[in-house]
Amino acid sequence: MKLLWQPGRIGPMEVKNRVVRSATNEHLSELNGDFTQAWADTQVELAKQEVGLVITGHVCVDRTQRADEGQPVLDRATDTAFLRQAAEGVHAHGGKIVMQLSHSGAKAMEAVNGRPAKGPADFTVEELKDLTDAFVYAAKRCKDCGFDGVQIHNAHGYLLSAFLHPEENVRTDTYGGSLENRFRLPGEIIRAVRKACGEDFAILVKMNCNGCGNLPAVLRLFEESGVDGIEVSGVDFAAKAGVKEPFYLEQLLAAREGILTPLILVGGMFSGESAEQVLESGIDFVSFSRALICQPDFVARLKRGEQTESACLACNGCYRVYRQRPVRCVQHTEPIPQLEKVFFSHG
Ligand SMILES: Cc1cc2nc3c(=O)[nH]c(=O)nc-3n(C[C@H](O)[C@H](O)[C@H](O)COP(=O)(O)O)c2cc1C
Repeated sequence: MKLLWQPGRIGPMEVKNRVVRSATNEHLSELNGDFTQAWADTQVELAKQEVGLVITGHVCVDRTQRADEGQPVLDRATDTAFLRQAAEGVHAHGGKIVMQLSHSGAKAMEAVNGRPAKGPADFTVEELKDLTDAFVYAAKRCKDCGFDGVQIHNAHGYLLSAFLHPEENVRTDTYGGSLENRFRLPGEIIRAVRKACGEDFAILVKMNCNGCGNLPAVLRLFEESGVDGIEVSGVDFAAKAGVKEPFYLEQLLAAREGILTPLILVGGMFSGESAEQVLESGIDFVSFSRALICQPDFVARLKRGEQTESACLACNGCYRVYRQRPVRCVQHTEPIPQLEKVFFSHG
């Protein structure tokens, strides 16, 4: 492991190694969207287990558009005590913490929100300005609470990725049509967050490598908007059951020429060897999700040389059960004793 344990930089953040926990919905809020002790403990535990950069599960900036009843909300009504606790705890273990901010778009759950989901065409221009303000407000509160940055969620069919998608965005005004127009809202949000939070606060994005149009052009637009780091995923990540190799590497390598912004690759990373290969190919950071659901201490085990491969089967059982039961990995029928408090305390 020549590269995995080397420090790396993402904008203002010096990260102690090249390991990122990709945003993973913890499903640990109160039913009303309040943050919980278990949510904060989860972030801290990952840093304790050698994850260099912890990205939280997606947090909704609009209380009326949550993805499910376990998703936290960050708005004017939020009590931020657990955010401060999470930031302090992660820093105490030498890690960095970034909050993923999101609007669920068409994936908002009507049964939870009591109102229909909103896609790109359902917003007035005035409402888009309010949405930008909501992202800015949430980012400022993260900064006040000691977070190192935010990641703006532009992937996986949530609202901003739907704006980028040529078919899902059917607007005919300046927010729809050409790639430049479809990028207008993500670009406005990024620039507004930068203006409000300054250069010493990291702004990352997570984006799809497919379903957004011309990938090199989208990467360039994100770079030009001034983000500090770009995490690359894909619209079809949930269809990759059983694939245990980095499944978006080729697309990213083919599209990245000339991009200087640090790149993070997610999807299919399950061993030290494949992580190292990705880093050797010139990608700056590697990101894990399911491997850390299966074994929250996988990175520490890798570092100690106790394991080279994740025990995760990539079966995608976690996609089915994470909203329904406290034990998220379907391989585990019993809580992991030392992690019980953190990962299994919440139904
Ligand atoms: C239970 C679960 C929850 C997830 N929640 C999020 C999320 O909140 N935000 C996000 O961007 N991706 C989310 N993802 C996707 C992962 O971050 C990641 O992109 C995907 O699982 C592929 O990476 P992997 O092969 O390392 O699992 C989630 C995945 C799982 C399994």
